Amino acid sequence: MKSYDVLAIGELNVDLILNRLDGEPEVGKEKFAGDMILTLGSSTAIFAANAAALGTKVGFVGMIGHDNFGQLIKESLEAKGVDTSMLIETDRYASGATIVLNYGEDRAMVTYQGAMASMSFADIDPAVFDKTRHIHISSIFLQPALKKGLVELLECARAHGATTSLDTQWDPAETWDFDYARILPLVSVFLPNEKELMLLTASATVDEAVEKIRPYVNVAIIKMGNKGSLLVCKDREAVLLPSFLNTEVVDAIGAGDSFNAGCISRFVKDDSLEECQRFGNLMGAVNTTAAGGTGAFSSKEHIETIAREKFNQFITL
Ligand SMILES: Nc1ncnc2c1ncn2[C@@H]1O[C@H](COP(=O)(O)OP(=O)(O)O)[C@@H](O)[C@H]1O
Ligand SMILES: [Mg+2]
Repeated sequence: MKSYDVLAIGELNVDLILNRLDGEPEVGKEKFAGDMILTLGSSTAIFAANAAALGTKVGFVGMIGHDNFGQLIKESLEAKGVDTSMLIETDRYASGATIVLNYGEDRAMVTYQGAMASMSFADIDPAVFDKTRHIHISSIFLQPALKKGLVELLECARAHGATTSLDTQWDPAETWDFDYARILPLVSVFLPNEKELMLLTASATVDEAVEKIRPYVNVAIIKMGNKGSLLVCKDREAVLLPSFLNTEVVDAIGAGDSFNAGCISRFVKDDSLEECQRFGNLMGAVNTTAAGGTGAFSSKEHIETIAREKFNQFITL
């Protein structure tokens, strides 16, 4: 028996969200915000929280500072049922933070990466690899030190008998430095979105990107927004599964992370790849029915109710 079904390795930060601003910031001047929320941020945290909400045993490996924001991150993860005993606290850096300035549908963001940027493979206690069935890695372009040791990390997971999934997420530097021929053979389930996949492989179309990665993938499930997702294996034709379309989207923040949470919560139960894809689509859709990345995932009962009432899917968590 492993202690964890899934170990999430990734970035952690707080979001300081300012709403109802009375103008855009100007150097040398002061403006008011009508409303402020300080909350757990980061897409890997949304993944971990929502996988835990689905009943998966989740632990988190990430780096935080020895500070109040670090404490908030830790307590927020614990409140979501995520094990935080493997978080790495450092005195060298502050915890990361994103200031979000909301202007209607649009937003301006400034991020201080802090501790997340410096966590490396060497910081991770080798003992954790024995404790988990699966390792999910996300947001590698936000974590340059971790990215450098990605191959070592994936090989270590494999040597300890753990399966792996990877969602690269967006590259803010837009250099898209990713040796897919070397990395993908070590990844059990690859989970990019379609735009990221095209950029990672320097392709003009999704079809072209799929043919480029196909020789190297074990399984890839490519997220395609309201179109659904595409299941790609080495020797099979790709399968497009349409989304459980939500025509009244509240917002799509964290839809991809919720897809990952649904997909991987089934994968660690040894369900079929088709079921992993279907459940990913369903949890991505559920995500879009409430505000933010975790709003719809408050309890098993709530998730079941949304799946039934909005998407006519009867699930038991
Ligand atoms: N409007 C929508 N209705 C139903 N499901 C959606 C909708 N938008 C996204 N999804 C689901 O969420 C998944 C992830 O969304 P996507 O935007 O592709 O990911 P990311 O957030 O990584 O860019 C999609 O594959 C789809 O299954
Ligand atoms: Mg994404």
